[in-house]
Amino acid sequence: MQIKRIAGALGAECHGINLSKPLSKDVQIEIKHLLNEHEVLFFRDQAIAPTQQRDLARIFGPLQTHPAYGTVDGLPEVMLLESTRERPSKIEVWHSDMTFRQHPPSVTVLHGIVIPEVGGDTLWASMTTAYDTLSSGMQNYLADLHAIHDFSQGFKESLAERGGRERLADAVGANPPVKHPVIQIHPESGKKVLFVNPLFTSHIDGLPALESAEILRFLYAHSTLTEHTCRFKWQADSMVIWDNRSTQHKPVNDFFPATRQLHRVVSEGDAPY
Ligand code: SIN
Repeated sequence: MQIKRIAGALGAECHGINLSKPLSKDVQIEIKHLLNEHEVLFFRDQAIAPTQQRDLARIFGPLQTHPAYGTVDGLPEVMLLESTRERPSKIEVWHSDMTFRQHPPSVTVLHGIVIPEVGGDTLWASMTTAYDTLSSGMQNYLADLHAIHDFSQGFKESLAERGGRERLADAVGANPPVKHPVIQIHPESGKKVLFVNPLFTSHIDGLPALESAEILRFLYAHSTLTEHTCRFKWQADSMVIWDNRSTQHKPVNDFFPATRQLHRVVSEGDAPY
């Protein structure tokens, strides 16, 4: 593989690999190593079937399903992320995937299927860099704090739709709010990462409401400073693999009335610690 970094904080293009073929153990190890180093990896021209994408994601661990998203027919682990003029995406804010779970995904594998001519890029931010660039006073303040992550906050727009409460009742019931450390130690790299996000984190446990809100506001602004991010322009058959424990991401919904469709598979992570 040839590797080319695309930004200072995170992100690398990987050339010279066909992800639709079974990967040798050595190549799997190399990809995991690259992921630890660059946090998000970009691949072009990967014409890959949904079953092959599912098998690729399995190299990172057992797969998770999503309680609310549609899936590719017959493949419950392959989520269908489709945004059209009639049903635009509601995911507009920075987040890590599914942190409302006790065991949020470790790795996400996203495949571009229908990509708009213009717009629809995705941004990623390094939560390792976000942690490293905090003052030591702030790092110490956050060290022992825990935050609450809540499915109902992330899906509040869907819940507010007509019939939304009924449609999502099982998902809400199966996903009560969970508590995660604000600072995690990444289980593979050993680096400290900031682990709060504006989509799912409702508040910091045990702090007065205003203090929690203001600290989170600061952390979100700090973690997504332009210097901490990279940006990717999709093409059909682009494949992106990112570490969901050490990054946040944000799709840019600037492509309507065009349609954007991607397939997503996530693998199960450890409980944050
Ligand atoms: C996601 O939030 O996992 C999908 C990101 C995107 O649509 O670019």
